[in-house]
Amino acid sequence: MSTEPPAPVTKRGLARNTAGYGDPEFALYLRRSFAKSMGYSQAMLDRPVVGIVDTGSDYNNCHRTVPELIAAVKRGILAAGGLPLAFPTVSLCEPSLFPTSMHYRNLAALDTEAMLFAQPMDAAVLVGGCDKTVPAQLMAAASADVPAIQLVTGPMLATPFQGERLSACTDCRRYWAAYRAGTVSDEKIGRIEERLATTAGTCGVMGTASTMACIAEALGMMPPNTAAIPAVLAERLRAAEEAGARAVALIANPIRPSQIITEHAVENALRVLLAIGGSTNALIHLTAIAGRRGIRIDLGRLNELSDTTPVLVDLKPTGEGYMEDFHAAGGVPALLWELRDLLHGDAIDVTGATLADRLAEPEFVDRRYIRPRNDPVSPVGGLVALFGSLAPRGAIVKRSAATPALFEMEARALVFDGLEDLAARIDDPDLDVTAQDILVLKNAGPLSPAGMPEAGYLPIPKKLARAGVKDMVRISDCRMSGTAFGTIVLHVAPEAAAGGPLALAETGDRIRLSVRDRTLDLLVADDELARRRSAWRKPPLPARGWDRIVAEQVLQADEGCDLAVMR
Ligand code: FES
Repeated sequence: MSTEPPAPVTKRGLARNTAGYGDPEFALYLRRSFAKSMGYSQAMLDRPVVGIVDTGSDYNNCHRTVPELIAAVKRGILAAGGLPLAFPTVSLCEPSLFPTSMHYRNLAALDTEAMLFAQPMDAAVLVGGCDKTVPAQLMAAASADVPAIQLVTGPMLATPFQGERLSACTDCRRYWAAYRAGTVSDEKIGRIEERLATTAGTCGVMGTASTMACIAEALGMMPPNTAAIPAVLAERLRAAEEAGARAVALIANPIRPSQIITEHAVENALRVLLAIGGSTNALIHLTAIAGRRGIRIDLGRLNELSDTTPVLVDLKPTGEGYMEDFHAAGGVPALLWELRDLLHGDAIDVTGATLADRLAEPEFVDRRYIRPRNDPVSPVGGLVALFGSLAPRGAIVKRSAATPALFEMEARALVFDGLEDLAARIDDPDLDVTAQDILVLKNAGPLSPAGMPEAGYLPIPKKLARAGVKDMVRISDCRMSGTAFGTIVLHVAPEAAAGGPLALAETGDRIRLSVRDRTLDLLVADDELARRRSAWRKPPLPARGWDRIVAEQVLQADEGCDLAVMR
């Protein structure tokens, strides 16, 4: 039994945020006593505390390496003189959640923020990886404003298969589309299922998880050159150890998320999003993260940035490479060097360095995957916002993953009322559809019971797919996977469930799309729209629980789909 006297109350380490007994010294005495029940010595408990957000879960394949990463983070913290204390939070795996992981991103952010705030810690390491986890953690850190470092699990490795390489999930979609078209057999699609994701880690293409990792590094919330390290490399564990050590360094010289996530840093992150041909989802997430610091991402400004930012990274879903190629090619630091004249050099990162300080000409760049400015993948950025009578507050199209021949068109709409209607009719042999139609899905936005799933990649109707149709214009108020491709207009705002014009669209209406003019219009007379509006009814609220909170609180896509009370 220890004979040590109660330690004096300080506002560091375990002495932070003592429980409200009305007697801070007793609260600390009790806290230390309980901590000692876990075997910690007084010397350990006197150290500054680094909290480690643990999102390991048997439901989350993308986070399979989290226990090993946390062990490495702890090594780094202990060696640097800190006390590591890991704690669990909500863990979100994209394919494991109903109705969609997006429905729970704000729950993870709420949980993480509350624990960062309520528990005693001087700094934190945020360990995440899968699509919604990293944005949730960055939203939480931005609000709690505890010095914090983002560590990602890293991408999986691609797997050789019959002369090509496969990785989740662009190849999943490519092969599934071929299977639907009847060009891949039952037997082969079964074999491919076992080859798409063969190592630990997040999807191996420039999908949402990879995009968010690059954005976290571009924002400055992650140690340099750690976004793209594959999950299974020893280098990933060394990055975890470094994250732990750097978190301790942040205690002596505090740099808070509020100092890192500035307007200039957000604009740098937007440039990177555009230059990597990144996921459309990342725009929603970055908007939410920035919104936590009172920074608004204006979609008009996005278009200006998009027109002046080339796509330089050549990875799937739009190119050929995988994340392991991007890392070996030089990763985010090489990309930042290439973009240097477009970036704000005064933004600082978790090391305290300004971007200008840390920009350095890389020794080696593999130009197959990170192209020079004079030979870009595309001279303009991957994403553009559209506005018009169908999307007064905007919609997004990933032009780098779309078919340019479909960019300027006016066509008949074939409208699906929701996901059930889509599933029931899309493959009906009698469906009245041609390749020249525009497929429209409504009631799948953030306020809808569907929860804004990644359903914007509407399947090509089977009878058209079997006739060789590869792409059609598809419009919805939901999202699409960052690993998907096609001429797909997403995030229509206001959504149908909020009574946006999309709610009034009907099969047979004409829609005009112009990517050149950034417009998306529903060509229906005002009196007819007024008639339809008078018949429209707001969907009923869910009875209780998280669904009810979301239905009452969630903001539209142009505001990042955050909860109104958390901004
Ligand atoms: Fe987790 Fe793709 S499913 S990153």
